[in-house]
Amino acid sequence: MVDYPTFEHDVIVIGAGGAGLRAAIEASGSGVSVGLICKSLLGKAHTVMAEGGMAAAMGHNDDRDNWKVHFSDTMRGGQYVNNWRMAELHAKEAPDRVRELESWGAVFDRTKDGRINQRNFGGHRYPRLAHVGDRTGLELIRTLQDHGIHQGIEVYMEVTVLTLLKDGDRVIGCLAYEREHGRFRIYKGKAVILATGGIGRAYKITSNSWEGTGDGHALAYDAGAELIDMEFIQFHPTGMVWPPSVRGILVTEGVRGEGGILRNSEGKRFMFDDIPDNYKDQTSDTEEEGWKYVTGDKNARRPPELLTRDHVARCIMREVKAGRGSPHGGVYLDIAWIKEKIKDAPEHIKKKLPSMYHQFKQLANLDITTTPMEVGPTTHYVMGGIRVNADTQESTVPGLFAAGECAAGINGANRLGGNSLSDLIVFGKRAGEHAAIFAKENGHGTLDNAAIEQTAKAALEPFDRDGGENPYTIQHDLQEMMQANVGIVRQHDEMVEALNGLDALKSRAARTFVPGNIDFNPGWHTALDLHNLLIVSEAIARAAIERKESRGGHFREDFPGKDPEFAKFNYSLKKSEGGGMEISKIPIPEMPDYLKEVIEEMG
Ligand code: FUM
Repeated sequence: MVDYPTFEHDVIVIGAGGAGLRAAIEASGSGVSVGLICKSLLGKAHTVMAEGGMAAAMGHNDDRDNWKVHFSDTMRGGQYVNNWRMAELHAKEAPDRVRELESWGAVFDRTKDGRINQRNFGGHRYPRLAHVGDRTGLELIRTLQDHGIHQGIEVYMEVTVLTLLKDGDRVIGCLAYEREHGRFRIYKGKAVILATGGIGRAYKITSNSWEGTGDGHALAYDAGAELIDMEFIQFHPTGMVWPPSVRGILVTEGVRGEGGILRNSEGKRFMFDDIPDNYKDQTSDTEEEGWKYVTGDKNARRPPELLTRDHVARCIMREVKAGRGSPHGGVYLDIAWIKEKIKDAPEHIKKKLPSMYHQFKQLANLDITTTPMEVGPTTHYVMGGIRVNADTQESTVPGLFAAGECAAGINGANRLGGNSLSDLIVFGKRAGEHAAIFAKENGHGTLDNAAIEQTAKAALEPFDRDGGENPYTIQHDLQEMMQANVGIVRQHDEMVEALNGLDALKSRAARTFVPGNIDFNPGWHTALDLHNLLIVSEAIARAAIERKESRGGHFREDFPGKDPEFAKFNYSLKKSEGGGMEISKIPIPEMPDYLKEVIEEMG
């Protein structure tokens, strides 16, 4: 008989970033009891790394903006393999979600006439990002946290979920352990929402903190759900590259939104060298016009630094590879240059980008108001994730919902900056609403004690061995391999090598040894995280090998062009009966006429 502490709620939400909090608020507001599980402390989430703002077509800074433009920008950025229904819902609902946040206490920056101020970001035709300096994600989390706590949501901090529990086909809860004392716990729920964020820790250079180990992706996969679009990884163009201890930490796109420009070691503004055909109409080819755009000239076209992230990251890599990089393997991002254009530039920079100012001052001893930063691409976001119904966010497994980064669809092959925060609140709300409906219609399921015991026993195995592999070494080797072989620029042989390497790493992960005991033991936690990291890495490599073209966050040296055949489907990965990973194509349904017309209208 299992005898673990058991917590029972109508809806269990796993993950307490923006999507999880918003889902929990919605479910609890509709009258069901909600348990919110976070791997870390409440408030510590990758959401805070979306610094520059949340995209919502409110039209405050340019009244030509509306949901249609936002929809078409999102589809263009995602290179048309997006779930168009999600892109539509997102574009239509984001403004209301932002206003709702404001009514809950979020303090946005204001325009001169007192409205929520919106800034420029890559791939967005008009200034669209509602922001709070460069701390927007933090403000979003703070607001949702305050609001949620007052609604009586039960929060379980520092708890990691090991497996989802099922009754037949349906998900009915999860088995978890609390990190402090390592004790197992059971959470029973009539519906479960995954909102666990991303997979950045599968790579060596990442903006993700230690929690980003693909937990929700792997939990869903193990429970029989489908993962789609896993080949599309977003390498944010600007992470810190120096000093080594801070490599990968995000440098917000807001720096470029406020006029920051990229230069190589020869001082050349290299982004002018390669403007993709599908953005030529929107991108300026002179420095003067780019600056006019930044300062709000409605007739000007955007500077090339504000092209989509996939493209900017590749241009930076090109410069570095050609020997025109900065001393530590990046390029220069210069915001200090705006002193040529405006009075009191240092004060302006500190006001608009306070966190960046402090980040560089404290971590790199560099003053961004006088000196260019060294930056390079960092693994920031995964477009792929759990396949969900666009309207309800339910996965292909009954009772299991997903929202935010661990769910897929809205972003297609590449996410536009700022679309993440709005995704979290739009689809977090929807997931909460529909999980609550599901919970009202279904009872608690029956636990399978044998399955629970088996998972708990397997989790303790690293303590039972006399010796074996160090989990940190395996994680390190995995990160090195994924960075080198399934990174920004890919090719067949290297990815096949990675797939073989993953087999070897799986065998090693089955032999991990952890000294000590279950009381706060980060080595053990790392050993357990490996299972998830290996699943998401395999999904990325398998889908990337199959997609023999380049699109968005998937660039292949051996297939550098886009192939229209590959725009007709998404790759889906699922656990087979035999336990292996199987890949298939899911056709993208035809877009309804009214949306096709929007795309045509927007050019
Ligand atoms: O650059 C940034 O501030 C990141 C934003 C995002 O990922 O949406």
